[in-house]
Amino acid sequence: MNRIARIASLALAAAVASLSLPASADDAKQEAIKYRQAVFKVVGWNFKPMGAMVKGETPYDKAAFQRMADNLAFASKLALEGFAPGTDALAGETRAKDDIWKKNDDFKSKMAEFEKASAALAQAAQGGDMAAIKPAFGKTADTCKSCHKAYRED
Ligand code: HEC
Repeated sequence: MNRIARIASLALAAAVASLSLPASADDAKQEAIKYRQAVFKVVGWNFKPMGAMVKGETPYDKAAFQRMADNLAFASKLALEGFAPGTDALAGETRAKDDIWKKNDDFKSKMAEFEKASAALAQAAQGGDMAAIKPAFGKTADTCKSCHKAYRED
């Protein structure tokens, strides 16, 4: 790139940056959206390999399963905070449906069920008995599905 082009592109970049500089309230909303999506990435990261073990697709590893179940139980407590008021699709890139805030008590109760089920899964994992783990995993999976069905865009 020659010098003039470089200066022009720097000036353009600065102009774009100042135009898109969000007001701080919007900034906080976008941070909240990113935060909860990151939490759900942690949730999914830990959940999926447990599912593979429960289905017998990968060998059951008690210590690894326990670690993932503990991680999930911990992560389940984090997501709710990210659903702050006004952090809907108008505030940023999100699959969260408006009903989360319209029916917030129901949404919160679904989150509480998820917390409870994943705590029970972590508890069951300590026994190392697949006969107890399987139904606890199934219950946890149901809490994901029922919330996504009601409150997450496809
Ligand atoms: C109480 C509601 C609720 C529960 C319970 C729940 N989710 Fe979600 N999940 C959501 C919502 C809402 C989003 C969309 C978040 C957004 O885009 O802002 C989401 C997003 C996700 C994502 C996408 C994250 C990304 O990359 O943006 C994954 C993966 C996910 N959930 C997995 C799970 C799994 C696995 C479980 C159960 C172990 C679960 N969720 C339980 C509501 C829930």
